[in-house]
Amino acid sequence: MDIWHIRGGRRLEGIYRVQGSKNASLPILAASILGGAEIELENVPQLRDIDAALRILRHLGCKAEQKNNLVYIKSNDLTRSSIPHELMLEMRSSVIFMGALLARCGEARLSPPGGCRLGKRPIDLHLAALRKLGAEIEERGGDIHCRAKRLRGTEIRLPFPSVGATENILLAATAAEGETVIRGAAREPEIEALAAYLQKAGCRIAGAGTDTVTIGEYRPADYVRHRVLADRIAASTVACAAAAAGGEVELRGAESAHFSTVLHFLKRAGCDIISENTCVRLRSDGCLNAVGRVRTEPYPGFPTDAQPVLMAALLKARGCTEITETIFENRFRQVPELKRLGADIRLCDRSAVIRGVGRLTGAALEATDLRGGAAMIVAGLAAEGETLVRDTGHIRRGYEAFDRCLRDLGADVRLGIEP
Ligand code: EPZ
Repeated sequence: MDIWHIRGGRRLEGIYRVQGSKNASLPILAASILGGAEIELENVPQLRDIDAALRILRHLGCKAEQKNNLVYIKSNDLTRSSIPHELMLEMRSSVIFMGALLARCGEARLSPPGGCRLGKRPIDLHLAALRKLGAEIEERGGDIHCRAKRLRGTEIRLPFPSVGATENILLAATAAEGETVIRGAAREPEIEALAAYLQKAGCRIAGAGTDTVTIGEYRPADYVRHRVLADRIAASTVACAAAAAGGEVELRGAESAHFSTVLHFLKRAGCDIISENTCVRLRSDGCLNAVGRVRTEPYPGFPTDAQPVLMAALLKARGCTEITETIFENRFRQVPELKRLGADIRLCDRSAVIRGVGRLTGAALEATDLRGGAAMIVAGLAAEGETLVRDTGHIRRGYEAFDRCLRDLGADVRLGIEP
């Protein structure tokens, strides 16, 4: 059990070099099995979910090692096409191995994935798309068995731009005969990042980052070296932390365009923000204004992953903010915990109304999920006295050495471990 000790009231000052993106790394790790190549990935964050992906790769017969932020994979001797239940449960992204295994082995045996409990999170769109490509899929009990003697390129129309389903289609389609066209594809930067990796690995892809993506011929390269994109949600989290606690920080390495909707609301709350390509300077006096209405949406809309941390930043903001969560049914799990600090938040269906309070007072909280846990840390930085966040490991799933990053910016944060 991790115990975060946060003493609020200190300004954050300095430079944060934004970590590599978890959600861009994970599908690329799944993609690494496609061509049997030797792969070196730079800027991969050291996280629990990355460890889980590397364990899956080793289980499948790959050589997969991480040294600091460099990952080395060799996948020429794949020995298995199944993933045991315990590994599937470690994270949501284990499901992306379905498309990759189908493409590489013509078969995948797995079970429904784990991940943060943010709602029902079905995988119906993934399965329907793979069936459309020609896979036979049997679901029995908790087991999923996909088989395809051959996959055929086709047009797949997604009724909702699911990030994971788009990634699974991209991977499976590399083995399809003829061209695959995805309509209604997710447009997240992580999709563009996966496509950029696949292009380097020998696949012809056009349109990634738009709602129509075309996947053509794949001629596997022998060796790929690739640098993973910086994490727009980690950058948003530190921006929200500095906005809430006050201070002056420089976020280096992340494309500012990738989190411009978050910066937009922080600016509206009263922060001074200067952004240039991959550098954002943010100054806040810690006295923020409410921002009116915020609505989470698929990219390029406001990201659901930044919703909890923006909420945390606005707990003391003068006035009322209404946040509507449209992506996940259950992404306000941080709210009862934030209320222990004295926050005034009213939940009504898919909206949360935050009425800014004059002060927050430290309390003992329980991390509910990855971004919810991060939100509790952000709120703790703006609270008086000590906040404790007990966490069974959610925050480590997505933030690399987050305690050290915050201390480097001047925060009084200590991470203890209890048995
Ligand atoms: C990715 O999850 C991210 N995870 C999530 O980040 C992120 O919140 C989400 O995209 C939305 O941006 C990774 O990239 C590893 P979806 P994913 O498929 O792929 C419904 C974080 O904190 N849906 O776009 O699972 C689903 O239930 C994590 O880093 C179906 O109904 O998201 C949800 O309501 C959390 N059927 C919505 O679509 C399906 O087959 C969005 O899901 C698939 C999805």
